Amino acid sequence: MRKILVSDLKPGMILAKDVYNHEDGRLLLLKGFSMKPRYISKLESLDITYVYIDEEAVPVAEEDIREEQIYSEAFSTIKNVLTSVREGDSIEVAPVKETVDEIVQKIINNENVFMQLTGIRDIDNYTFHHSVDVCIYSVITGKSLGLSNEELTELGMGAILHDIGKCKIPSEILLKPGRLTDDEFLVMKLHTVYGYEIIYNTNGLNKQIANIACQHHEKWDGTGYPVGLRDNQIDKLARIVTVADVYDALTANRCYRKKDLPHEAAEFVMGNSGRLFDPDIAKNFINNIQVYPEGCMVLLNTGEIGSVVDAGKNMTLRPKLKIIARKEGPPIYDPYIIDLMSNPSIFIVDILT
Ligand SMILES: [Fe+2]
Repeated sequence: MRKILVSDLKPGMILAKDVYNHEDGRLLLLKGFSMKPRYISKLESLDITYVYIDEEAVPVAEEDIREEQIYSEAFSTIKNVLTSVREGDSIEVAPVKETVDEIVQKIINNENVFMQLTGIRDIDNYTFHHSVDVCIYSVITGKSLGLSNEELTELGMGAILHDIGKCKIPSEILLKPGRLTDDEFLVMKLHTVYGYEIIYNTNGLNKQIANIACQHHEKWDGTGYPVGLRDNQIDKLARIVTVADVYDALTANRCYRKKDLPHEAAEFVMGNSGRLFDPDIAKNFINNIQVYPEGCMVLLNTGEIGSVVDAGKNMTLRPKLKIIARKEGPPIYDPYIIDLMSNPSIFIVDILT
């Protein structure tokens, strides 16, 4: 075992001791974890200066690193686009198209590739992570619905740009903690129309992509905005983005609300299928995204901490876990498996990574 600066960590190095957040004492990473680029960034962002690692490292698959690169390129691209549009510049289409093409290609080959990367809950960068996650969830759902490659690209473009109209909303409304007044909400709703205008007037983007931004808050039962369209009047690709947008927003900690756990957000989507959401799309969404992806670390009501070993699919909101630690009490030397499907009294109370 040796002590190493976080700045010297490399992917594949193995943690020799648990890592805690100094500020709130939360367990961040467990002994035995193989370092991944996103864990290293997380430690850096929390100002953790050193950790203990084992002498032996395990090689990290090139593919895993490539997926993280694509995710972070998508993050930077949408950050640049949203920042420049806010400053009055136009959208630079080529990098957005490039990043969406890469996401679509990866998902066509394997729909689970990005699942471990979604759900990063960094309050300062919420909008950028949200845009990328909505893109990933939408493309996975679109693939399951049998969309063509061309439609998947348009869906991905519309999804990553769905909230671009927020760049035209005054920041006192956009960033207001707490509930908006009725008048403020009327202004906020305009982000859909602004999004349509920005996209429609950009060379290289088309009406289909603009319609996604315009209609992503329309609801299946006609109670949405800006127009109050219902069921098939709403563009199909926009209906997909609506589900992805709501699911991702519910699972995020925002300044005005505490996050839902992923299975709670998934239950909300299913519970509102046929009311807020297109039932076919809601079903495909839940059947195809991994609510708790493999490798995700969760805390159970029993105080045990487990890492997901089998995410399951088809409405499986209760994964199979390898229990590796306890929040309090003696350490676990012999990890064991708990299948939440066959243990109804055990449930997830928090998500750790
Ligand atoms: Fe929106």
